[in-house]
Amino acid sequence: MVFRERFIVIPTDPAGEADKLLFRHRGELILDLDVKISDSPVHEQYADVQRFAGLDVDVTLASGKPFAPRFAQNMPVPAEYDYCRPKYRFTTRRGWINDPNGLFFYNGLWHLFYQHNPAGSGWGNMHWGHAVSSDLIHWEERGNTLFPDRTGTMFSGSAFVDHKNASGLGDGSFPPILLYYTAAGGTSLLSKDIPFTQCMAYSADGGESFVKYSGNPILPHVIGANRDPKVVYSPELGLYVMALFLDGCTYGLFTSKNLLDWTELQRIDLPGDGECPDFYPLEVEGEPDSVKWVLSGASDRYFVGSLGESGFVPEQPIMPLRYTDCSYAAQTYDNAGGRRVKLAWGRITHPGCIFASRMSTPWELSLVRRCGRLYLAAQPTDEYLALRRVSKTYEASAGFETELPEGPYDLKLTCPTGSEDIRLMLGSSPVAISPKGNQMILREGGSSFPLTLEGGDVEIQLFADTGGVEVLCDGGIITAAEALTAGVNGKLKVLSGSANLTISEIIG
Ligand code: FRU
Repeated sequence: MVFRERFIVIPTDPAGEADKLLFRHRGELILDLDVKISDSPVHEQYADVQRFAGLDVDVTLASGKPFAPRFAQNMPVPAEYDYCRPKYRFTTRRGWINDPNGLFFYNGLWHLFYQHNPAGSGWGNMHWGHAVSSDLIHWEERGNTLFPDRTGTMFSGSAFVDHKNASGLGDGSFPPILLYYTAAGGTSLLSKDIPFTQCMAYSADGGESFVKYSGNPILPHVIGANRDPKVVYSPELGLYVMALFLDGCTYGLFTSKNLLDWTELQRIDLPGDGECPDFYPLEVEGEPDSVKWVLSGASDRYFVGSLGESGFVPEQPIMPLRYTDCSYAAQTYDNAGGRRVKLAWGRITHPGCIFASRMSTPWELSLVRRCGRLYLAAQPTDEYLALRRVSKTYEASAGFETELPEGPYDLKLTCPTGSEDIRLMLGSSPVAISPKGNQMILREGGSSFPLTLEGGDVEIQLFADTGGVEVLCDGGIITAAEALTAGVNGKLKVLSGSANLTISEIIG
């Protein structure tokens, strides 16, 4: 049949049998998508096939089961799943998302790409989805930008705004905007037996449209499942640097003069971490002449050090920025005018829902000196703070109750050194805080994390939205995120202990 409309509608059942949807043109395979199919589908997923418009394509299931393709020009937002959709953290209309990819700011817009499976609510068939926002809070989803091809499905990576046109890919009207991604060969039938390589796509129109670079791969296979290129400029070296996850806990740094040809500089281990490196310079707060480099992995363990001819030299032990597992694969924005804004994948799924996962609240990072070391500190952005409306403060002790806002809110809790343990209910979610034990637990059975670096007065900021919370402790040096599908709205109740509480409503 000749493809005309933008989407093929795929009836799926997350609990159904695994099958493959095969797309053939003149007998040749042009796309294969892993799908879960049953006789009684529960979701309709929409995969963008506009690139095949005008082609005569056969669509079949690998299992041989009958499949009658349906098409649509537009993708409606299914309102019946609003109950589990966070209000200001980005979610996709349909399908699965994971890591934030290709983060760049350009011309007043924050661009967010992300790992997206348009054909199901579980991981697979990686495409890059694209969304934009003028405030990092209100997002407009634009659809898929990078599609699986013969080199593989589209794994994670970064963006770089090439103001100097070092790549030579610009024509002078706009700086080329480069998207570095991993072509994950071997993750589809179409890319069978091909290794993971690093590739690039670029925009010559300010981020409106992207094409894959004809000279791909820009970095051939190095080792194992090498992936997740992060590209940044080093003024110290006068070179562009790519941090790449290699294998185990080992990362590679590569340098380039033209953003296209890369030479290995160094290999370095991030003990206890793996995947999705981030690598960037950051000024030490209050010390304008002191710029350090931060190298982190997907689990947010980071080194602070310096970058020179022989590579990156850590100057202190590796440290965790975040505890608990509901935040992963964080990246920071390129071209944000001196700001280091970070987004992470919020690993929260809602069984039965047509979409899975969310992005985190955007955080503004700084580097602060405390107890003889440098620490990353995360704080809400000014854009977020501008959405705070009603704030109410209470001296609350056991028996205290108040109504929580219906939508997203944040909560600041302070108490002096050595206070008694505090137990709270946020709606139906219990939260336990032990100032004496220097620990907090965000959900029953959840893992604990410290409240402060060196003990002392406790200040906790908690950001609640449908299905989850994020927490910053001790000025954001300690961060945590947790899925709270039990619900965080309704009443706040203090069951034991006492604290000063400020509850601020966020208008979405
Ligand atoms: C991290 C990760 C990356 C990879 C991507 C695939 O969550 O495993 O290493 O590129 O997800 O979706």
